[in-house]
Amino acid sequence: MTVTIVGSQLGDEGKGALVDLWGGNADIVVRYQGGDNAGHTVVEGGEEYKLSLVPSGAIRGKVGVLGNGCVVNPRTLFDELDTLRDRGLDPDVRVARRAHVIMPYHRVLDGIEEEAKSDDDLEAGTTGRGIGPTYEDKVGRRGIRVGDLLDPDVLRDRLEYVVPQKRAVVEDVFGMEAGEEFDIDALHEEFADIGRRLDAEDMTVNAGDFLGTELDDGANLLFEGAQGTSIDIDHGIYPYVTSSNPTAGGASTGTGVGPTVVGQGEVVGIVKAYLSRVGTGPLPTELDGEDEDLADYIREKGGEFGTVTGRPRRIGWLDVPMLRHAARASGFTGIAVNHLDVLAGLDEVKVGDAYDLNGERLETMPATTERWAECEPILKEFEPWPEVDWAAVADEGYDALPDAARTYLDYLSDEVGAPIYAVGVGPDRAETIELVDPFERDA
Ligand code: IMP
Repeated sequence: MTVTIVGSQLGDEGKGALVDLWGGNADIVVRYQGGDNAGHTVVEGGEEYKLSLVPSGAIRGKVGVLGNGCVVNPRTLFDELDTLRDRGLDPDVRVARRAHVIMPYHRVLDGIEEEAKSDDDLEAGTTGRGIGPTYEDKVGRRGIRVGDLLDPDVLRDRLEYVVPQKRAVVEDVFGMEAGEEFDIDALHEEFADIGRRLDAEDMTVNAGDFLGTELDDGANLLFEGAQGTSIDIDHGIYPYVTSSNPTAGGASTGTGVGPTVVGQGEVVGIVKAYLSRVGTGPLPTELDGEDEDLADYIREKGGEFGTVTGRPRRIGWLDVPMLRHAARASGFTGIAVNHLDVLAGLDEVKVGDAYDLNGERLETMPATTERWAECEPILKEFEPWPEVDWAAVADEGYDALPDAARTYLDYLSDEVGAPIYAVGVGPDRAETIELVDPFERDA
């Protein structure tokens, strides 16, 4: 069966903790979208590993797959694999031959375009990893796929077509100088070498066939979504979005496993008990102005600084219309709520229960970001819950949570129409209270 983990908000919901918890029952952990913009920290055997591309399950001895929906920077991939091997691990990572390759020029173009957009405040605040420009080339049918690296002649043909165009964009559109990242021979030499290494290590797969065969043989697959619903290219706050589909549909198109198979499995939405945002764009429930101190407090307590970029994250109250939207877009069968401990001991706990848009009450997000920016949150206040010994609570289970915290969780579950599968009350693996293991719910 499959379990798909989806971010319900703007990324950084703590998906890794659940991938960790449930990955134990998985045979294969699969990423279906994104690239090395997805920072995650995994602690195993007292050691901390910071990854941005390799699926976290690979550290736990699972097969990790980067599906065709991913964009792969082979430099990052091999850096991360080499680091893990230097530290005594033996990660088994397979890469879809249909996945697209992030080339050095994509990163350059990411930076240039963000800079150009910043004049009009339209930059997305990207991670600068070349994600958008790579997906752009994929859709524009001028991308380079992992499979192309395996054949030096094909690789040369692709580079000879695309690189002059990229060079022209830099020079003629942006009036800048194109550097070594735009040198066809140098690119060919490096990336044909990468192809030889991928081949020698037998790392490339036809993802749909590989995963389908494993499923037929009874394997459990965990689809590890990166980022979150509100920065989904289709369902997010365009243009302040990433360029892929973190929503559950991406688990099918991004792996070659059919939607009926994904849909027969479990789809778990991961929710952070408040909101954080790395990047630009509106945020109706943002704690700013008079609430800046509260935001600072939550930011520090929750460690809300970007894993990839180190940027401080913007903080807000939970945005419930955003969660209703996420639940609909992905069809959640359950939710996991993280960071409940971070809100403990506050004088007040609020959520954005709905929006007021020019006098009209909205229960879900409007489809344009401009209208979203005009939404005033209709706040609902909850009784705050006290600081308690969270490790002891995690040990005892759900019923040991403070009453007020359970009221908050019941409300959330009702609003998104899905039961609570897990609650995170601290950063350690042992501090996640598990109510349901989705792999045990196979019909
Ligand atoms: P990109 O994915 O680097 O193109 O960035 C596009 C938008 O997605 C920016 O607002 C980023 O801050 C945001 N973003 C990308 N990856 C993550 C993530 O893993 N967590 C949170 N935000 C992200």
